[in-house]
Amino acid sequence: MQPSSNISLLPYNTFGLPAKAAHFVEIQSVEELQLALQWGFEPVLILGGGSNILFTRDWPGLVVRNTIRGIEVVRRFKRRVWVRAGGGTVWHDFVRWAVQHSFGGVENLSLIPGSVGAAPVQNIGAYGVELKDIFVALEAVELASGRRRRFGRAECRFGYRDSIFKQAEKGRYCITSVTFSLSLAGHRLNTAYGDLQKTLASMGISAPTIADVSEAVVRIRSSKLPDPAVTGNCGSFFKNPEVTRPVLTNIQRTHPAVPHFDLPDGRVKIPAGWLIEQCGWKGKRVGNTGCYEKQALVLVNHGGATGAEVQALAWAIIAAVERQFGIRLEAEVNIL
Ligand code: EPU
Repeated sequence: MQPSSNISLLPYNTFGLPAKAAHFVEIQSVEELQLALQWGFEPVLILGGGSNILFTRDWPGLVVRNTIRGIEVVRRFKRRVWVRAGGGTVWHDFVRWAVQHSFGGVENLSLIPGSVGAAPVQNIGAYGVELKDIFVALEAVELASGRRRRFGRAECRFGYRDSIFKQAEKGRYCITSVTFSLSLAGHRLNTAYGDLQKTLASMGISAPTIADVSEAVVRIRSSKLPDPAVTGNCGSFFKNPEVTRPVLTNIQRTHPAVPHFDLPDGRVKIPAGWLIEQCGWKGKRVGNTGCYEKQALVLVNHGGATGAEVQALAWAIIAAVERQFGIRLEAEVNIL
């Protein structure tokens, strides 16, 4: 295993943005990672599927592409099974494996781009399920020391698209494997999300299986979200803002139909896609970038865009939403 120098990162980020790594390596095991860390290149960036990253500059140190694969059952209980997947496993490959084995719990998270190791970082979620709902523990390697460390659920401090790996421990670990708890029997399917109910009905299914739910999610995502293999993007660019009730009441004066979801702490979540659409940005194109025409929360690279262009578009959208609604959107994507 040797580092390569001056490598283009364009094939390794789903936005398809140009950036270069001074040094680059692909690792297939914890031991290879530990070896690469001993080379002493700094800073170190761990890359999974590159599906939540916006490169605005070249990387001056070492980029490590995690390709630690493998999925195995590590414990079997009466009604549940613990499955460990390598951090470099493609997320949807893991979901497909679970669905094929009739293991329940991840079907709502079908077709999310990215890798297993990146999934806990932002506590990926879709259609009423979040990674934390099925998470047991993860193993990681500390970049500074090369030491292995286990993180339990509480230590990860999961929140909405958030974890300790986006906060205090940001950039300090490589997640090498994740263990999930999936159901073997008595599956608790989560089909309450409006779009999911509608799609299952349109498929003529009234008593869905795990595979049906997965298929419905794949259909919804394919119809609403751009395929990164065709149009560069990173899924939702912004988080849905969580605001106090008076903020909502104020918006309702001018927009009585504003969609919102109650949160347990009394605040409300307003879809950022709706706010952006109201400001007239949905489907707008600026140079080589734009706001996706079917889902305003997604920014796209129409071809040849730079990270700086995407960032400028994001800033323009943040400013427009703040001007019209007094709400400051936050990026969900990791901007480097
Ligand atoms: N909406 C609009 N215009 C738009 C988009 C959305 O008005 O252009 C409004 C509609 O009222 C719609 C509502 O927003 O009913 C919710 O839209 P959607 O169901 O598409 O979900 P979202 O809140 O925009 C979130 C996640 C997605 C996830 C979906 C489904 C975030 C930041 N995004 O989007 O996650 O797939 O829910 O659960 O929470 C991702 O993180 O990359 C991602 C795609």
